[in-house]
Amino acid sequence: METIETMETIDRSRPVETMETMETMETRDHPRRRRRSIDRWVRTTATSSDDATMFARARAMTTARARPWGCRRRYSGGGVRAGGGGARVDAHGAPARASAAYARPERIAGVKGRDGGASRIGETLELRGWARSVRTQKGMAFIDLNDGSAMTGMQAVVSEGSGAWALANSGACATGAALRVKGRLVTSPGGKQAAELAVDELEIIGGADPETYPLQKKRHTLEYLRSIAHLRPRTNTIGAVARVRNELAYATHNFFQQNGFLYVHTPIITASDCEGAGEQFQVTTLLSGLDAGSATTPGAVQAAEVAVKAQGDAVKAMKAGGDVNKETLLEEVEKLKALKAELEALSASTGIPTNKDGSVDYTQDFFGKRSYLTVSGQLNGEIMACAVNDVYTFGPTFRAENSNTSRHLAEFWMVEPELAFADLKDDMDCAEAYLKYCLNHVLEHCDEDLAFFEANISKDNLRERLRNVASQEFVRITYTEAVEHIQKATKKFEFPCEWGSDLQSEHERYISEEVFKDRPVIVRDYPKDIKAFYMRLNDDNKTVAAMDVLVPRVGELMGGSQREERLDVLERRIEENGLEKEAYWWYLDLRRYGSQPHAGFGLGFERLVQYVTGVENIRDAIPFPRYPGSAEF
Ligand code: 4AD
Ligand code: MG
Repeated sequence: METIETMETIDRSRPVETMETMETMETRDHPRRRRRSIDRWVRTTATSSDDATMFARARAMTTARARPWGCRRRYSGGGVRAGGGGARVDAHGAPARASAAYARPERIAGVKGRDGGASRIGETLELRGWARSVRTQKGMAFIDLNDGSAMTGMQAVVSEGSGAWALANSGACATGAALRVKGRLVTSPGGKQAAELAVDELEIIGGADPETYPLQKKRHTLEYLRSIAHLRPRTNTIGAVARVRNELAYATHNFFQQNGFLYVHTPIITASDCEGAGEQFQVTTLLSGLDAGSATTPGAVQAAEVAVKAQGDAVKAMKAGGDVNKETLLEEVEKLKALKAELEALSASTGIPTNKDGSVDYTQDFFGKRSYLTVSGQLNGEIMACAVNDVYTFGPTFRAENSNTSRHLAEFWMVEPELAFADLKDDMDCAEAYLKYCLNHVLEHCDEDLAFFEANISKDNLRERLRNVASQEFVRITYTEAVEHIQKATKKFEFPCEWGSDLQSEHERYISEEVFKDRPVIVRDYPKDIKAFYMRLNDDNKTVAAMDVLVPRVGELMGGSQREERLDVLERRIEENGLEKEAYWWYLDLRRYGSQPHAGFGLGFERLVQYVTGVENIRDAIPFPRYPGSAEF
């Protein structure tokens, strides 16, 4: 089966930056005035056809953003076409040219186009890639050349009479070698493929020793492949994951751009804990000066801190007791002084500045306060949504949860839209439309790769399942209803479930796989005590306007909520959660000045890849997975 390649009709260039320079603050919120200014810009500036495309796109964006509050968001579901299989190609299989002046060499997926290359028979082509296998038979060498642009490569055939024969037969032309081949595209007699390359010229750009090359033509387990993550993208499975991942990222940007969301970049380093779960990786330069060979370790400092505290408490207790011998008290005070001096000396030798009580003095750290890698871009996304309306961020997030599960990574990518003037229903509508858009996109553009996953990974009706999901309405139930379903189940669960407890992955999967027969389910209105502080309190005072999207096999794919926009309620929730109100002063300011109901969600991008491809373990949904004990590649 061939990937269907179509012309890329969307211009990826973004006109917004250009427009931004000529717009004033006042015009930004008025679509009609914005339109006029774009028209003016086009009349005075646009000269090339590229500019004209930019203009068309700018117009579309302006219209998309002109949506007054109260009017339901309508999600566009398609219309954007992109080449699949990696290479962007036009309807004839030729690479789509970003501009006339620049073009990369043609890729195998482009040559094969829609018809396996049948329409290109007779053309002379030059291709570069890696040999997946080389076999010789009856005066012919067959090279399976793959350049990563598609699942199937190009069969390159060297016959005995050709000038390339000696090299093809030399043993240097082996599995794993990087090759350049040139020849004529001919009809393939075998019928296994429409076309093959009759090679006249062969160059070994980089050899690979067949004795030691770890990827021989046999099946390797995914566990083994993780140990050679630098080579595993050359395998069918991981190569296909990379292409599907790319298309999902492309679809993500298309969906939000078409619906008028601004792509904003939120920081990786932050001082706040958005989810309040304390799973952050700390960022510090205080350890940088620490000599690896130094006898003084942070552990030794900690032990000294404990000793100082214990002695301090003892002295305090003695003083409080009153009837203590003065000499004994003095002795104990001297001991305390000595321990403090020891702690100071130890701290000085580690180079870690401490406060008087022995705790680390973070005012001397790089950012002047304790800082972390972000667990979510949401809080910053909210700032932007409270200024420029609907936004989305798509970046890496980090969680130091020590869970070795098939659904958790320490570093994962999150897509986080934030909708201004929106409630939970708007949020759920957006989540549903976005997921369906992604599914339709990959069904249209990654058919060859999905067929591979269907046959070799999920071993079921993967594409039909995805098609069904894309065409059906998602189920929407409350958390209370979900708990009732789980409690009624005859199935035995590892974890108990009662109202107030968090749903475990096994419960989530049961709901979407068994209760609702392989349909995505949106569960809303969770108990406030198991959700983050920023979620809007419902009128029952027990639940919050939260929603999780659960999908078969994966469980929770997205998590979101309407945000608490009422200042007094938010302040109370921060306190109830044991957080410091002062640290959130800027977040509270959003509720002081021009507050409005807004909502958003986060989608775990690797979980989406997992869901679409059917790969069992999330570590195979990202090229270089980060999990406890693993950061090799
Ligand atoms: O449900 P979470 O924790 O929600 C948030 O972080 C919100 N601040 C998002 C928002 O409203 N803007 O995480 C969102 C999603 C989860 O549904 C899950 O798919 C994924 O992120 N996720 C993980 N994916 C891989 N590894 C992990 N350790 C993950 N933790 C969460
Ligand atoms: Mg969640």
